[in-house]
Amino acid sequence: MFDPQELRRVMGLFATGVTIITTRDGAGQPFGLTANAVTSLSLDPPLLLICIDKKAETYPHFLDSGCFVVNILAGDQEELSRRFAKSGGDKFAGLPHSRNQAGVPILEGTLAHLECVIVETHEGGDHVIHVGRVEHAEARGGKPLCFFQGKYRHLAD
Ligand SMILES: Cc1cc2nc3c(=O)[nH]c(=O)nc-3n(C[C@H](O)[C@H](O)[C@H](O)COP(=O)(O)O)c2cc1C
Repeated sequence: MFDPQELRRVMGLFATGVTIITTRDGAGQPFGLTANAVTSLSLDPPLLLICIDKKAETYPHFLDSGCFVVNILAGDQEELSRRFAKSGGDKFAGLPHSRNQAGVPILEGTLAHLECVIVETHEGGDHVIHVGRVEHAEARGGKPLCFFQGKYRHLAD
């Protein structure tokens, strides 16, 4: 079988942006995780997909709520990305955010956010693939936080 660490190393050459995907549990408690396995899927209907590790603490709560928000991080949000890339604790403590109609957190200071309803879920090895229908999106713009070869990066121009 192809070595998982080698796959990580090779795919690390594919530069990406960084997002925090938020959701909530059945009682309305917020959850979220840092993610870069986010892909635009279809324009009509408007779909995107996210890949979620079955071992993530946030994982079961996508099934509770049936919806999520993709928050696209700005270049100055590296600390926030690190906070949401660790399990445990209240990641939202002291964090300015609002909620959408479904009660899912929308983070402040991001480049953009997309509010989605899960319309399909597929098995993907140790991850699941959630296909989200975009119900609402807002773009504010600015410089992105990037990830390349296992490190956070910033655009020079
Ligand atoms: C740059 C970056 C990208 C990541 N992308 C994903 C991803 O697409 N899907 C995923 O499940 N985890 C991803 N992770 C790992 C999760 O953020 C990490 O496992 C986190 O601890 C999960 O939090 P939770 O256990 O509280 O849900 C990524 C981490 C980093 C630093």
